Amino acid sequence: YRRLRVALLGAGAVGSQVADLLLRHGDELADRAGARLELAGIAVRDVDAPRDVDLPRELFTTDAESLITGADIVIELMGGIEPARSHILLGLGSGADVVTANKALLATHGPEVFEAADRVGASVYYEAAAAGAIPIIRPLRDSLAGDRVVRISGIVNGTTNYILDRMDSEGADFADVLADAQRLGYAEADPTADVEAYDAAQKAAILASLAFHTTVPLEAVHREGITSITADMIEEARSAGFVIKLLAVCERLQESTGESISVRVYPALVPRSHPLAAVHGANNAVFVEAEAAGSLMFYGAGAGGVQTASAVLGDVVSAARRHMAGGTGVGESTRANLPIVSIGHVTTRY
Ligand code: HSE
Repeated sequence: YRRLRVALLGAGAVGSQVADLLLRHGDELADRAGARLELAGIAVRDVDAPRDVDLPRELFTTDAESLITGADIVIELMGGIEPARSHILLGLGSGADVVTANKALLATHGPEVFEAADRVGASVYYEAAAAGAIPIIRPLRDSLAGDRVVRISGIVNGTTNYILDRMDSEGADFADVLADAQRLGYAEADPTADVEAYDAAQKAAILASLAFHTTVPLEAVHREGITSITADMIEEARSAGFVIKLLAVCERLQESTGESISVRVYPALVPRSHPLAAVHGANNAVFVEAEAAGSLMFYGAGAGGVQTASAVLGDVVSAARRHMAGGTGVGESTRANLPIVSIGHVTTRY
């Protein structure tokens, strides 16, 4: 097999698992990708920081730029806007395809990144940026490209689902379960991103942009977190036949003036009979309603290092196959340009 040089940026919960799987499953991945995926190095801030997995020390470097410029595929798993953005643009500019799980970056600088890729005929893969291990980016972008998505209702944050689920099933206290979610590695470095729904809002912007073939800016996403949800509210919901879930709802609205879309993340009352009510622990689920396909549900691990690493590696194999086939870039179709309405235009019922 021809060798493709893979540069990994970041060795946190997901990055260290990606490196481990790349090293352990090298032969199998080579067969599937049609190329040997050679882990050229792992760029980190601190070479000696503790990692979840033991990895060969010689792979680590603090010189991300040199690693990126020699790579065929760049995997960005550092998170945050900078230096992730500059590193991705450098990778694309030097002819690499990019795999990223960076929801914050895509939700705020997506168009810049996709345009940079289109300019050089490269591709950006981001299956791991929303709903962890669950394949949802490709289904929305590819499998449903011939249909019209009407609505997406998703549980897209594992930490808050874990918290709400334990409050519901055990009457547990918010602060205690948040500490558990952090210990289990589900929560973001700053758990405010989870509990105030910034993380879910970023994922909602990404999913809505794909589903409606437009660009949904993060500012257009209405956001309410779960910090004001009390044990009493959960109990009250239960006795009325509901469960409280943090939902990302992205929908197409038909109004007299034409079509528009609404994207909102908020703690919703979900009937206990709805499939989303049965999503427990740190799992995620995305319920998609499309005109021709009807209802589809995508379910699985929404957080966790090795689970999310599965989605990243799937992207790496896709990137390698494309590389070997000498294909052209897969541009994002954002031509629909539908107006995006504020929350005031719709009811908050689910
Ligand atoms: N903190 C995120 C969550 C991790 O809890 O869902 C996955 O994006």
